[in-house]
Amino acid sequence: MAAPTLIAALEHNVKRILMCRPTHFQLAYSINPWMDMQKGVNRKKAMEQWENLKSTLESSGAKVHIMEAQGAESLPDMVFAANAAVIKGTKAYLANFAHPERKGERYFFEEWFTNNGYQCVGDLDIHFEGAGDALWGGDQNKTLFVGVGTRTEFRALSDITTKLDDGTNWKVIACRLIDPRFYHIDTAFCPLNEQVAIYYPYAFDHVTQHNMRNETDLIPVSSKEARNFACNAVVVGQNVIMHEGNDEIANKLAKLGFNVRFVNMSEFIKSGGSAKCCTLAI
Ligand code: ARG
Repeated sequence: MAAPTLIAALEHNVKRILMCRPTHFQLAYSINPWMDMQKGVNRKKAMEQWENLKSTLESSGAKVHIMEAQGAESLPDMVFAANAAVIKGTKAYLANFAHPERKGERYFFEEWFTNNGYQCVGDLDIHFEGAGDALWGGDQNKTLFVGVGTRTEFRALSDITTKLDDGTNWKVIACRLIDPRFYHIDTAFCPLNEQVAIYYPYAFDHVTQHNMRNETDLIPVSSKEARNFACNAVVVGQNVIMHEGNDEIANKLAKLGFNVRFVNMSEFIKSGGSAKCCTLAI
C-alpha cells in the first residue's frame, strides 16, 4: 500500500474537501454557454457566497482545506477546484484543460498536491477536466463515471485506468455529454451514495443513460432545475448542499432521508459553475 498522505492519515473517516479562494474570480473570457461577458461578476458577493459555501460544508461535517490563489491573477476560474484532478487514494490524476485560458491552473494545483503528499499523474496530450468530469459512485463507490465529448477526451479513460491502478477492483465508464450547457458531468449528475444518484437525463445520450442505470439508481431532475444547477451538489454524509431554488428535487431527496441545504451561488453560475464545481473531494 502507498504511504498515506499527512492529510489522509490525520483525517481518515472525514470527508475532505479542497477549495480555492476566489481572489481573482471574474468573467474574463467565455468558454461555455453560461459565460455572458455582459453580465459581470460582483466580486464581493462572490467572496461572501464562497465563504458561506465553505462554512455550510464545515457545519455539515466536512474538513475543508484552502488553496490560496496567490500568483494566479490571470486564472479567474481557479476557484473551480473540482476541475483540478481526480483522486484515488494518494494519487492525483491531474487535469489537462481543453481551453488555453485554464491550462495554467494545473501547475498551481500540482504544487498543492505535491506539497500535501499526493503523487501526481496525468497526461499533457489528453484533455481531461478532473472531478468536474469524473465522479465516483455505484456499488462501493468503485465506478468512476467520466463525462466525455465536451471537455474530456474519450482516450482519457484508458490512461486513468492505467495510472490510477492500485491493484483493487474498480472501473471507469464513459458518459457521453450531448448538451453544451452541461459541459462537465458534474453539471448533470451527482451520486448521493453507493446506491442512488440524481441526474439530468437529456444531458446524456441514450446508451450512456442505459449504462449509468446499470451502475446506480437514478433520480431525474427536471430541465428547469437542471438549468438551475441542481445536479451540481456536494454530498457530505446525508447532507446535500446545492444552489437555492431547487425545491422539487429537494423535496424528493428529503423523502429519501437526505438533508438538503441551499446556498446562493449566483455569481459562480455566471461562469457556469455552482457548489460542486467549487469543491474537490481529496
Ligand atoms: N468557467 C468554468 C469553465 O467553463 C466553469 C467550470 C465549472 N466547473 C465544473 N466542475 N463544472 O471551465
